[in-house]
Amino acid sequence: MLTSPLLEQAWSVLLDQFAHRYAAAPVAQGPETAAQIRRLQGQLPDWGFTDHDVVLAESLAPLNRQRDPIVGALERLQPVLQWRTRGVFTDAAYTNRAYVEFIGPDGMVRSDDIRLGIYWHDRDTFYPSHRHNAVELYHVLSGTGFWQHRSQTWVSRPAGSFILHGSREDHATRSEAEPILALWSWTGDISFESYSMDEAAMAPPAMPPTASMPLS
Ligand SMILES: [Fe+2]
Repeated sequence: MLTSPLLEQAWSVLLDQFAHRYAAAPVAQGPETAAQIRRLQGQLPDWGFTDHDVVLAESLAPLNRQRDPIVGALERLQPVLQWRTRGVFTDAAYTNRAYVEFIGPDGMVRSDDIRLGIYWHDRDTFYPSHRHNAVELYHVLSGTGFWQHRSQTWVSRPAGSFILHGSREDHATRSEAEPILALWSWTGDISFESYSMDEAAMAPPAMPPTASMPLS
């Protein structure tokens, strides 16, 4: 098994930052997830190279690397991040949405109780309406995206926003000029069996986003 003090240090910083941010969320899922991370923080992944075409440079560039340790941690871990894709929804021939499961049943560190990681969503990309049994909490790190949640209204969600999706609640995401990078977690029934998504054939409606951000 490959050992790397530098990767281990970056992993520790990444999970510490994840827990720190979720602990400050304005909904109970945040501190509860932070406590789960703290319990699993000492476990290390088996480091391995995963072939992928996700480039985080544009998402990390707006962040302040002096004040934000998550920037250096993600840069160092990029070669070993196990990106997963669940479909391509634009005409691009490359990956435009992907996620890494840091902790979970399919995670870099195994847990059957929770899924959490990072979600990346390229510019000009549409993630159609979908729903699942799990309760989902996003925390936007970089890039302003637009979320639909239980309605047709698109809401602007800048960096720093928390977005909570209850069990079975419809939600969709689209981006414009900026890619989105977010922390995410699933709690409750974390099986993918309940996951369903609307067809991507329809382009996202050109509706002006509102400015309300009840959870941010
Ligand atoms: Fe979701």
